[in-house]
Amino acid sequence: MFLHQYFSCFTILTILKALVHVSDAQLSTCYYSTSCPNVSKIVSSVLEEAFQSDPRIGASLIRLHFHDCFVNGCDGSLLLDNSSSIKTEKDSISNANSTRGFDVVDNIKAALENSCPGVVSCADILAIVSEAAVSMSGGPSWEVPLGRRDGRKANRKKADDCIPRGSDNLSNITAKFSRVGLNLVDVVALSGAHTFGSAQCRVIRGRLYNFSGTGQPDPTINTSYLKTLQDKCPQTGNGLGLANLDPVTNYTFDNQYFTNLQNHMGLLSSDQELFSTTNASSIDIVNTYSKDQATFFENFVKSMIKMGNIKPLTGKKGEVRLNCRKVNNK
Ligand code: HEM
Ligand SMILES: *[C@@H]1O[C@H](CO)[C@@H](O)[C@H](O)[C@H]1NC(C)=O
Ligand SMILES: *[C@@H]1O[C@H](CO)[C@@H](O)[C@H](O)[C@H]1NC(C)=O
Ligand SMILES: *[C@@H]1O[C@H](CO)[C@@H](O)[C@H](O)[C@H]1NC(C)=O
Ligand SMILES: *[C@@H]1O[C@H](CO)[C@@H](O)[C@H](O)[C@H]1NC(C)=O
Ligand SMILES: *[C@@H]1O[C@H](CO)[C@@H](O)[C@H](O)[C@H]1NC(C)=O
Ligand SMILES: *[C@@H]1O[C@H](CO)[C@@H](O)[C@H](O)[C@H]1NC(C)=O
Ligand SMILES: *[C@@H]1O[C@H](CO)[C@@H](O)[C@H](O)[C@H]1NC(C)=O
Ligand SMILES: *[C@@H]1O[C@H](CO)[C@@H](O)[C@H](O)[C@H]1NC(C)=O
Ligand SMILES: *[C@@H]1O[C@H](CO)[C@@H](O)[C@H](O)[C@H]1NC(C)=O
Repeated sequence: MFLHQYFSCFTILTILKALVHVSDAQLSTCYYSTSCPNVSKIVSSVLEEAFQSDPRIGASLIRLHFHDCFVNGCDGSLLLDNSSSIKTEKDSISNANSTRGFDVVDNIKAALENSCPGVVSCADILAIVSEAAVSMSGGPSWEVPLGRRDGRKANRKKADDCIPRGSDNLSNITAKFSRVGLNLVDVVALSGAHTFGSAQCRVIRGRLYNFSGTGQPDPTINTSYLKTLQDKCPQTGNGLGLANLDPVTNYTFDNQYFTNLQNHMGLLSSDQELFSTTNASSIDIVNTYSKDQATFFENFVKSMIKMGNIKPLTGKKGEVRLNCRKVNNK
């Protein structure tokens, strides 16, 4: 495994260097192979420990990578706290009282600073831990392109506008993905990350009791599943209860999510719409992934790498933050 990784990384870099002048504006799977060779191991061991007390943490962490990449590219902007120069993205509509796992990112950063000080960016931590979360949960593993640097800005308004919401319909979601260069296959494959983790009742209450102001539940919800969800999520109250995004195999990264959609058991309307929107091209993709987990895994990996490539800062742009919550020298 190690030999294979070393070999492929070394070979690819050597060949590329021989053929073309490699600009440093390119991510590389061996970016840290000399500066922090144990980076994946260090990240995995902190994640493993976090899993012990919180089986949901892997799901929470991959979501951070997604929400980071959709706002100003994968530059760690999501991780910045409020300061004199930063209006934190953590307060934005999709993130407030919802994104979690920032303390685990801090622990990973501390472990890396201990072994390879000032080397591994916070944006790369999110990419590395996403792969680790997926593979440790039964999903595919892949070599993660690295070399992103951290931004020195956050964009609260873009976080409001660019991150898809559970109430968005398929055309809204497709438009938001398209803005960052992702297509419909990416939408469906990446939505497959809803094979683990959970959502708060407040996010789905509209679907359960008063869908689009009709006074009725969303007609696309499976009737027995609707009962289960209504029991779990009462119409009144704070809505902070949790429902599993995949009610069948809750902590496992598999293709069950797509079978759930065929059974009208998507939790968010954005999930169910992939299958239930009349004539949508996403239906065929859902059917393919439900039938064929290997194809789902293959497409998921491709789309994760594509998402991870959204406008990275490379070369001398940005910085390697020492503390993921604040820009350096502030
Ligand atoms: C397609 C558009 C998407 C929409 C509309 C969407 C929306 C949501 C919403 C509303 C939640 C629940 C948040 C809460 O209740 O606090 C959620 C959770 C989650 N999302 Fe998405 N999401 C989308 C795509 C993605 C993508 C691309 C990924 C990762 C590749 C992802 C990974 C997750 C995970 C793992 C969770 C569970 C997190 C946890 O348990 O802490 N989602 N999503
Ligand atoms: C990498 O980790 C192994 C043990 O997991 C350790 O023996 C080795 O010294 C580490 N290498 C570096 C360069 O830190
Ligand atoms: C961040 O600052 C804004 C004002 O700019 C404030 O409204 C918000 O509550 C602060 N958020 C946190 C988490 O402190
Ligand atoms: C987050 O939750 C706190 C406590 O429940 C609440 O006071 C606050 O209004 C919530 N913020 C948002 C943006 O939902
Ligand atoms: C999505 O919602 C918008 C309104 O928010 C509407 O104009 C559009 O027709 C909807 N698209 C679909 C496919 O339902
Ligand atoms: C959804 O898309 C429609 C146009 O199709 C637009 O009018 C609406 O503002 C969008 N809603 C969101 C929440 O982006
Ligand atoms: C459903 O929502 C609509 C529009 O938001 C509202 O006017 C209506 O009173 C709600 N109906 C019920 C039964 O809550
Ligand atoms: C996840 O599924 C397992 C096995 O079905 C179950 O024991 C556990 O309670 C579930 N966890 C949650 C949060 O639903
Ligand atoms: C509802 O869910 C059950 C169990 O998953 C499934 O057998 C049934 O076919 C589903 N009904 C519909 C209409 O999808
Ligand atoms: C769906 O496709 C069928 C066959 O092409 C067509 O007759 C129908 O009008 C379409 N429905 C919608 C809502 O686009």
